[in-house]
Amino acid sequence: MLRAMARINENYQKLQAGYLFPEIGRRVRAFTEANPDAAVIRLGIGDVTEPLAPAVVAAIKDAADAMGTAEGFHGYGPENGYGFLLDAILEHDYRTRGIELDASEIFVSDGSKQDSGNIQEIFGSECRVLVTDPVYPVYVDSNVMAGRTGEADDGGRYAGLAYLPATEQNGFSPDPPAEGADLAYLCSPNNPTGAVMTREKMERWVAWARANDTVLIFDAAYDAFIQDPELPRSIYEIEGARECAIEMRSFSKRAGFTGVRCAYTVIPKGLTGTTTSGERVELNALWSRRHATKFNSVPFVIQKAAAAVFSPEGLKQTSEQVAFYMENARRLREGLGAAGFTLFGGEHAPYIWMRTPEGISSWGFFDRLLTETHVVGTPGSGFGSAGEGYFRLSAFNSRDNVDEAIARVSRAFGTS
Ligand code: MLT
Repeated sequence: MLRAMARINENYQKLQAGYLFPEIGRRVRAFTEANPDAAVIRLGIGDVTEPLAPAVVAAIKDAADAMGTAEGFHGYGPENGYGFLLDAILEHDYRTRGIELDASEIFVSDGSKQDSGNIQEIFGSECRVLVTDPVYPVYVDSNVMAGRTGEADDGGRYAGLAYLPATEQNGFSPDPPAEGADLAYLCSPNNPTGAVMTREKMERWVAWARANDTVLIFDAAYDAFIQDPELPRSIYEIEGARECAIEMRSFSKRAGFTGVRCAYTVIPKGLTGTTTSGERVELNALWSRRHATKFNSVPFVIQKAAAAVFSPEGLKQTSEQVAFYMENARRLREGLGAAGFTLFGGEHAPYIWMRTPEGISSWGFFDRLLTETHVVGTPGSGFGSAGEGYFRLSAFNSRDNVDEAIARVSRAFGTS
């Protein structure tokens, strides 16, 4: 008799090398071990550096104290989030923009990375998936793991996925393609290019999604960085989006929660997918079922911390943090622009997308920047083949480090 075997999910073997950021971490560690005295400045992974806002810290302390009392103790929380946080989200993220949602349409979670990676689970394995290129790698890798793709080609593109190039010509914000798709991932403000979708652009995507019966997975993790109040922050500002879009938002970047962990996903009632027999099924019900099965709510203390972001002091303090990072972005754009670099993004997003110097590949520039200037960025090709020849710098760091990085990079690679 054949011995039972723990067969692996062989789709994982289609994945290329490591996940982008651990690979960067590996190269940086190897460099710092060999050069322990080098003062390395990390503008690679988009991880916040400013301390938590005082209003958030106070809420964590109060909630921790409450947890130590019989009256204030909380065990498992409500599956979709506590009412106090759902109400604050509805009020501040949506009602202020003229959007009415119901609390049952919001699912509080421990991160948009998880949500954007997990959401594909509620869709069929034969769904045709569209992504932009360059793209946040989680959207692609999670679909590879789920078996929705074939093997990758030499440029790293997986068979079976549709890639829509985001280029200088289209302002890194492509229009919808001629052909349809079942699922399409959009991210605005964009990681990695820093581009932001205008209202007209979003309207075109919503119209396309409705015409093609496509579900848009709209990642708005960086919405707080939008500087122009006229630009849409939520896809639900566009008429008809309730019928075609899922939205994800996060406290990570807007309030320094990368190590605290809180986010949410919106799935409007009435947004449906189909069964093979053509029956329409509510996606909200499917995600609710998944959430209840595989997740046990964000800790009470953390949801209190997230709710404190919406208090008057929390709003003021966190918007000051965002402004601080956006000043870093402005300096990067101006400083490196003056040194002769061609730069994009950084106006409504904490990411600068720059052309690598003539004749240097994305990873080539990564290695030279690290060894020659001790500055870490992210190679554009790590986000997709259309990112080759580009490089991402994150605005998340101290002012001194940002200024020092600009000086070092300008000295080493500046042309003007
Ligand atoms: C990034 O650097 O792209 C971000 O850290 C990604 C993330 O939030 O997971």
